[in-house]
Amino acid sequence: MANQTIPTQAFAGQRPGTSGLRKKVTVFMQPMYLENFVQALLDVLNGCRADGPAGTALHDQTLVLGGDGRYHNRLAVQTILKQAAANGVRRVLLGQGGLLSTPAASAVIRRRQALGGIILSASHNPGGPDGDFGIKYNASNGGPANEALTEAVYARSQNLREIRCSDASDIDIDTLGVRWLDQMQVEVIDPVADYAAVMRSLFDFDLLRGMFQRGFTLRLDAMNAVGGPYAKAILENELGAPSGTVVNALPLEDFGGLHPDPNPVNAEDLIAHMMRADAPDYGAAMDGDADRNMVLGRQFIVTPSDSLAVMTAHARLIPGYRDGLLGVARSMPTSAAVDRVAKVLGIPCFETPTGWKFFGNLLDAGRVTLCGEESYGTGSSHVREKDGLWAILFWLNLQGATGRSVESLVREHWHTYGRNYYSRHDYEGIPTVIADALMADLRAGLPGWRGQAFGSRTVTLADDFSYADPVDGSVSAHQGVRLMFDDGARVVFRLSGTGTEGATLRVYLERYEADPSRQDTPVQQALAELAAVAEQVAGIRTRTGMAGPSVAT
Ligand code: G1P
Ligand code: ZN
Repeated sequence: MANQTIPTQAFAGQRPGTSGLRKKVTVFMQPMYLENFVQALLDVLNGCRADGPAGTALHDQTLVLGGDGRYHNRLAVQTILKQAAANGVRRVLLGQGGLLSTPAASAVIRRRQALGGIILSASHNPGGPDGDFGIKYNASNGGPANEALTEAVYARSQNLREIRCSDASDIDIDTLGVRWLDQMQVEVIDPVADYAAVMRSLFDFDLLRGMFQRGFTLRLDAMNAVGGPYAKAILENELGAPSGTVVNALPLEDFGGLHPDPNPVNAEDLIAHMMRADAPDYGAAMDGDADRNMVLGRQFIVTPSDSLAVMTAHARLIPGYRDGLLGVARSMPTSAAVDRVAKVLGIPCFETPTGWKFFGNLLDAGRVTLCGEESYGTGSSHVREKDGLWAILFWLNLQGATGRSVESLVREHWHTYGRNYYSRHDYEGIPTVIADALMADLRAGLPGWRGQAFGSRTVTLADDFSYADPVDGSVSAHQGVRLMFDDGARVVFRLSGTGTEGATLRVYLERYEADPSRQDTPVQQALAELAAVAEQVAGIRTRTGMAGPSVAT
């Protein structure tokens, strides 16, 4: 078979965002759209500059490839394989059926010492012909590519004039084993095996097996996404949880119409089950690519910020973290609950911008062991992505090791450390000009807010969050407008970097309550005053015409 060189033209806007290049499926289905981006990526990996000739750095390298199984995944896999072959890649490790969850891809890259991996996913965004598609590159540490690389890919994409592609026929991606595509070796691997080995090394599988033997009940909603096969293999097949423990376990191209974003709004069926009188002991869900998690007890929802704090407080009870934690990190908008635990434990606590890529340097440098975000993402040094099933197993192990329920673990935590009431209000689908103007005006107004009183609270700090990476010194500015108050409360504003339609404004509200007798207020009620401050400061209603947030979690 021959390599073809096909002329092409640059597409505007192929700049990767918070987690890779994410667009509507219809955008990705335009002729050459995916091909261009992949060529730009392969060119950069091959060592060429923005406008220079192609290099050959890939000729002795292995790449990992797989995705969350959404619509267009299988077609994209075939295209990428043919491009990889024509661009001199030595070997591709492909998840069977083109599937790999994001954390599993990270695990495979690390365990097999690959140069990196291409992950096809739009995470929690809806799938199907009218849904979203995405592609991201993870480097040899298993984590999202850094900005230098993604910017180089973008620059290359804007100068692209041709792509190289094999004209070989499609290969079998469903049967395990080694085959050839021209000179390139393709090994179709079990997508679960490497990941399961990592989980076995961290958790007390005997203890977990015993829990299920004694009748412990779990409902894990895989939301018809890629996490299903992982959860079934580990929980039902290996740990002996009854069959049916994992529901919506079969990955579907359109997620069966579900919005695979595990939060109380989108995982309503799980919430309904967990609120029933005969609810299982433990409930959990994952998102489209299985890197996010939501955990629940009977009639009890755990917020992600609290989850990170509780996990940090009890980490030593889990075999993989028996020796304690090097440090912890959270994204800036995530609540400060974990900061209090870190202080008591005497370990460093880092505050990074939104997006998992900022945790990578800290993990690589051995500065932190656990990290998390308010957006249902938690992870550790075992991979370089957040990891949904890992978090679910962590909480399972925690319940087994303490003999306590999810609710009692969280309530005890609030009692000891105080409660950080927390909520995120999303305003989706705002015209970009309006959202940009809102943020620009907030930024322009910053110098005036300090010392201003709102009810009983006074602003002690008003800024636009900027992060200087303690490992490589790089600075990321304009990461979110913060108003901090004298009682520890906060209001944060930022625009989403992962949406595909218009802009999404995220408003993060937080306040601290030390008194156990006042830790039981419904969250939105506890934060109503701060929501009013956000409205007063930003004028969201008037500017957007929206009566309230489209999602409040
Ligand atoms: C969102 C979350 C962020 C997460 C990212 C990828 O990004 O807020 O915490 O890392 O998805 O899962 P955003 O849309 O806010 O830029
Ligand atoms: Zn995800």
